[in-house]
Amino acid sequence: MYDNWEELEQSIMDCRKCKLCQNRINIVFGVGNKEAKVMMIGEGPGADEDRQGIPFVGKAGQLMNKAFSGLGLKREELYIANIVKCRPPSNRVPEAEEAEACLNYLRNQVILVKPKIIVLLGSTALKNILGKEYGITSARGRWIEKKEIWYMPTWHPAALLRDENKKIEFWNDLKQVREKMNQEN
Ligand code: URA
Ligand code: SF4
Repeated sequence: MYDNWEELEQSIMDCRKCKLCQNRINIVFGVGNKEAKVMMIGEGPGADEDRQGIPFVGKAGQLMNKAFSGLGLKREELYIANIVKCRPPSNRVPEAEEAEACLNYLRNQVILVKPKIIVLLGSTALKNILGKEYGITSARGRWIEKKEIWYMPTWHPAALLRDENKKIEFWNDLKQVREKMNQEN
């Protein structure tokens, strides 16, 4: 673990700890406020993210941005990252060993950002951060506190593109995040 961003960022350059390194264009490290109160964690880069090196810039990300602006959440006050930092082929779910190989970078990012709240976007984020025993359908929308961090599991924004009903639930979950953020002020 590194106690500063420079060394952490250095350590990931040219990472070849898992086979996702083979097809990537860019490592999608993470973006946003390094002192954010709220961190958002997704699954892994898609094609647009891989091309640009920035998380959640494609369709799902744009939908998430719409929810943010509707709720008065600014991308600049958040820190956004993923379970794996290189794009899985055809956007498949990261394999256990890929997530395992990559997670220490994310853990180090959490240590440096020190967020009060972590939003887990979808099943992959939920299971890799809080444990395989959790399921997104039953866990979403409810706070889970662990080691002084409040976790809010919710739908992955890509799921909203496929199911209109989930948009409302996603919105309500982010509203809870906004409210807790204000309480923590
Ligand atoms: N889906 C994710 O999980 N992360 C991204 O960065 C983009 C799409
Ligand atoms: Fe390294 Fe993570 Fe990319 Fe795998 S996904 S090569 S562990 S940066």
